[in-house]
Amino acid sequence: MRLDIVTIFPEYLEPLNVSLVGKARARGDLDVRVHDLRAWTHDRHHTVDDTPYGGGPGMVMKPDPWGEALDAVLESGTAEGGAEGPGQPVQPVLVVPTPSGRPFTQELAVELSGKPWLVFTPARYEGIDRRVIDEYAERLDVREVSIGDYVLAGGEAPVLVMVEAVARLLPGVLGNAESHRDDSFAPGAMADLLEGPVYTKPPEWRGRDIPEVLVSGHHGKIARWRRDQALARTTAHRPDLIGRCGPEAFDKHDRATLEELGWRQGTDGRFWLSGEAVEE
Ligand code: ADE
Repeated sequence: MRLDIVTIFPEYLEPLNVSLVGKARARGDLDVRVHDLRAWTHDRHHTVDDTPYGGGPGMVMKPDPWGEALDAVLESGTAEGGAEGPGQPVQPVLVVPTPSGRPFTQELAVELSGKPWLVFTPARYEGIDRRVIDEYAERLDVREVSIGDYVLAGGEAPVLVMVEAVARLLPGVLGNAESHRDDSFAPGAMADLLEGPVYTKPPEWRGRDIPEVLVSGHHGKIARWRRDQALARTTAHRPDLIGRCGPEAFDKHDRATLEELGWRQGTDGRFWLSGEAVEE
């Protein structure tokens, strides 16, 4: 997979040389190219922003440097392994981080992990002149994406978040392919429950033991315990995820656990919390 990132702070993307993404890069599984937007400015001050039409606070990123930068990146060729066949031109997906975008979810990470080429355009200031997005949306699959309901100073940190979420899904990047199956939010995983607690050696630490069931060797009991822990954690932290599920998401044991946690089943089969969620 090829990733291009156009930014005014290339050094902000240094973490892409570390850990899982850094190793995938070093192995050649990921072709990451970070570009300095200011390379496509032509004035002495390398200006990338200007005042907004219509007034208001802050500055807006100028269309010219973005247009030149994106044209250069798009012209720079083909990504390996495109659907069009080896060596054929491939169109990237353009990912535009913005707090006014659609939420970035595990589902979108999975979708993007199947694409041969992603181009990210992290913006600073109040964002990029709208005409840039409109222009490329005529030629490319453009996704405006938010990583959460808060406003950051720029899109670079969201790019780090999205690249890590996508890269760990690529074949061979995460050591154990089974590891994503149980991810919280993995599509089709445990009805979108949050993962419960995990433990490793030693068996006793500062007077604290591990839950006995985990050393019972009884796989069925361990799976049930994990599922109950996931239900409890989801009740405490994200009750909306349970409320959203249809009745088919839960078996008889789940229903008993949910009842203990304060959930009641409505006539439509959905669960609602009677009173406050049980604290963990
Ligand atoms: N840029 C600033 N805040 C952002 C957010 N929450 N998500 C994506 N891009 C952003």
